[in-house]
Amino acid sequence: MINEFNFKKCAKCGALVEVLKDCTCENCGIVCCGEKLVDVELNSKDFSVEKHLPEWEVKDNTIFVTVNHVMEEDHYIEWIACYNKSGKVVKYLKPGQEAKVSFEYEKDSTILSYCNKHGLWYVEV
Ligand SMILES: [Fe+2]
Repeated sequence: MINEFNFKKCAKCGALVEVLKDCTCENCGIVCCGEKLVDVELNSKDFSVEKHLPEWEVKDNTIFVTVNHVMEEDHYIEWIACYNKSGKVVKYLKPGQEAKVSFEYEKDSTILSYCNKHGLWYVEV
């Protein structure tokens, strides 16, 4: 299980950054479009949980993941990722595709999905 994620987003352009080591300067921070990036909340209660939480099933040493979410031009799941002790694998999606991917199974994996409007969602496998 991965306990800590640190994603930041540009409030202006929507750029998304996974921070491996954050800036600790007093009045500094990671900047995009002239402003500090803002923290991305995980599994926000403000948006529909059932449409964003990845559903998963393990079969034949593979994790099959589905996110029951629209895949429209302006609102879709941009990517689904699997984090575990071996590292991470990210599968990128496009509007019109189904939000279905698979990963090699490893014990204590974490699945993240990213909705371009509603942020990051994760489940433990
Ligand atoms: Fe969404």
